[in-house]
Amino acid sequence: MVQPIRKAVFPVAGLGTRFLPATKVMPKEMLTIVDKPLIQYAVEEAMEAGIEEFVLVTGRGKHLMEDHFDHAYELEAILTERGKEAELEAVERVAPDPGKLSYTRQRRPLGLGHAVWCARQFIAGDPFAVVLPDDLIQAGPGCLKQMVAAYEEVGGNIVAVEDVPREQTDRYGILDVADDDGRLVRAKGLVEKPKPADAPSTLSIIGRYILQPEVFEHLDKHETGAGGEIQLTDAMAKTVGDIPFHGLRFEGRRFDCGTKLGFVAANVAFAAARDDLRGDIREVLREII
Ligand code: UTP
Repeated sequence: MVQPIRKAVFPVAGLGTRFLPATKVMPKEMLTIVDKPLIQYAVEEAMEAGIEEFVLVTGRGKHLMEDHFDHAYELEAILTERGKEAELEAVERVAPDPGKLSYTRQRRPLGLGHAVWCARQFIAGDPFAVVLPDDLIQAGPGCLKQMVAAYEEVGGNIVAVEDVPREQTDRYGILDVADDDGRLVRAKGLVEKPKPADAPSTLSIIGRYILQPEVFEHLDKHETGAGGEIQLTDAMAKTVGDIPFHGLRFEGRRFDCGTKLGFVAANVAFAAARDDLRGDIREVLREII
């Protein structure tokens, strides 16, 4: 029996430079896909996977996310007064239970590994999930829930993976594959952002992780890697050999909402999946293109 995953870390302290000027004041994770900010999709996916405790590693723009997950008394009072029940439900449904959502601050954006390390006190020796909200995954069941099911089979560290074109390997953490059954891939190593010619495979790690707390033994050293940043991939790579490491080819479609194209595509795909918008969105797209 593996220890269940009840805690999740949401690193949201990056600068989002690829999305300027939108992210000058507003954090990237508050960008909306149809009518919900990315961070809310991420928290809902984690709730569906059985996560009970949530920590956001924030930087600038923190108050916006704190406010988003808080009560909005004035707004709620007006919606109640006007009998707008559906809208009220949408506003109230947002947050985890009181006391189950925490915030810690990464004072300088030194890399994803450093952001996760900033949550170490909250993790306190338990296995945990990491969810990057800018990787939005359209799936049912959600990607993290699929990963939790895989974790119950094999334990250890698990990352979500997908095949990318070889010319893109230098954007991702890449698996060095030991065995591959088409769904679960056992890795014998990991490389962060390898050049296409040096990449051991084209299986890339995307923004969902289930990790054992031993990863902090390596993050504690604050070693920098690709781009001069403290990389989560490097710390995970050091656990391979001590702890089983698997990639899960999840079912679903990923949108890299940290890029303009991914963000626009996600809006179209999520709108097209909704009963209230499906018909109109097709019509509008036909007219425009
Ligand atoms: P990205 O690599 O997308 O970086 O981070 P970024 O700064 O957000 O965006 P660009 O590249 O400047 O456009 C992946 C995830 O890791 C978090 C980000 O918030 C995002 O969720 N992150 C990254 C941190 O929390 N801290 C960091 O130091 C770096």
